[in-house]
Amino acid sequence: MPGPSVPAASPPSVLVVGGGIAGLWTAVRAAEAGCAVELVTKTELAEGSTRYAQGGIAAALFPDDSAARHFADTIAAGAGLADPAAVEVLCEEGPARVRDLIRFGVGFDRDDSGLERGLEAAHSRARIVHAGGDATGAAIEAALVATIRRRAVAVHERTMLLDLLVEGGVVAGARLLDADGRIVERRADRVVLATGGAGQLFRHTTNPAVATGDGVAAAARAGAPVADLEFVQFHPTALAAPGTPLISEAVRGEGAVLVDASGRRFLPGLHPLAELAPRDVVARAVWRTMAEQDGAPVLLDATALGGEFLARRFPGLDLVVREAGFDWSREPIPVTPAAHYAMGGIVVDLDARTGLPNLFAVGECARTGVHGANRLASNSLLEAAVFAERAARALLAAPSAPSAPSSSSAPSISELPDFHENRASGAGDAVVDREALRALMWEAVGLERSAAGLAAAASVLAGWCAPEVRDRRSAEDRNLLELARTTVAAALARPTSVGAHFRTDDPDAAATAPGAAPSPAPTTSAPFEEAA
Ligand code: SIN
Repeated sequence: MPGPSVPAASPPSVLVVGGGIAGLWTAVRAAEAGCAVELVTKTELAEGSTRYAQGGIAAALFPDDSAARHFADTIAAGAGLADPAAVEVLCEEGPARVRDLIRFGVGFDRDDSGLERGLEAAHSRARIVHAGGDATGAAIEAALVATIRRRAVAVHERTMLLDLLVEGGVVAGARLLDADGRIVERRADRVVLATGGAGQLFRHTTNPAVATGDGVAAAARAGAPVADLEFVQFHPTALAAPGTPLISEAVRGEGAVLVDASGRRFLPGLHPLAELAPRDVVARAVWRTMAEQDGAPVLLDATALGGEFLARRFPGLDLVVREAGFDWSREPIPVTPAAHYAMGGIVVDLDARTGLPNLFAVGECARTGVHGANRLASNSLLEAAVFAERAARALLAAPSAPSAPSSSSAPSISELPDFHENRASGAGDAVVDREALRALMWEAVGLERSAAGLAAAASVLAGWCAPEVRDRRSAEDRNLLELARTTVAAALARPTSVGAHFRTDDPDAAATAPGAAPSPAPTTSAPFEEAA
């Protein structure tokens, strides 16, 4: 663990990579502390996963709630693998960070009693605050972008992280692909990775196109420990339409139910919380039900909520659903699981320090341990804010010491025996094709995995090599290939089912799975794609 913090002689220079809530927050706070801050972002400032977050942000803000209840819910959802020390930090400091967001200018929705609050899966209290109905992420992103424009932060858009500069074992900056396609080096006393997730590893995802795991891949190449990559959260309800847009869990929180093709609810009887069971449970039940109906999507029935309520409470979703050709006030809509969130990532301590001196990681690319094997709904924006605030304080200390994970549910992936062999690019001689990789990952490392399927995937991945890095697309493909290999290695190394990692060859799997014994997986080509 890091030694005691020693204040730096003068504020360090800071390079932040990523323009979502975690990167913006860290940059704003570091600039306020007097640091010279540069922020780079792969596309436009607002185009990360943050702006797509719908449900809201969870925190114990209300009189009938407490940090202890939020802690208990987060630990329970994490399937026994969440780190209690990290969860305690999250739940204790969360309310103050939401109040900070209000000061940053986020206009959370209000009703007669104050902040309006929603319920989502596996929360024992309604504690999700939201903005613009279902546009919480967009409201947070807009407020933080406006804030950063008022701070002395140099922002470089359309600039992609390629690699970290490591000198004598210490991170000294980053190699970047700039907006003109040139490879440039930026030196800084501290580098903060806030590069988000890697949903683009999977054929079906709710994530934007930028989510290619650039920070996790670069950190792993530089030697920073990464862990828990086998824990990929699949959201149960993406609209079964091109692009698989997210249909927020908050819709179920308001009373919508899931039914099969014959109109039968399939979750009551599988879990006491039915449609509001933890996300991994609901996602697997949807997957199994789809398998039983030849891959046809299940249906989300929100008709009881009424058209006026749906349009007021979920204005963005109302538009998305109608644009896809459905009237959800009158008919159930088809939904399917899709890759949504990475619980694993770069191993960090409680102050966002990674295993490399002067390198910090915040947001989805970091593995803080708060999510364990399954993230509780609407804890992601909260995690980003809480640990970005801590990072901004910790990076003022000098020197930044390498740290051990606060407590790891698994060995760091780089400690796995075949990690380096698996990660190395260029083993095969066929340059990786992104769509083939995404299809392979969906089939072999999706909601259900087996040793045979994972070993076959590992062998296909070993036959591919990364392209020469010459532009953004090729740099992303290199990252996706390396992360795919690492994720498969991690999933192979965990033979038992836990949380979002479900192994059909685990002898206890049938007992822990919702529904009957393992059934054939839905085919990759779901009917909604054929119709698209
Ligand atoms: C949702 O609105 O269902 C997603 C929120 C989250 O991922 O926590």
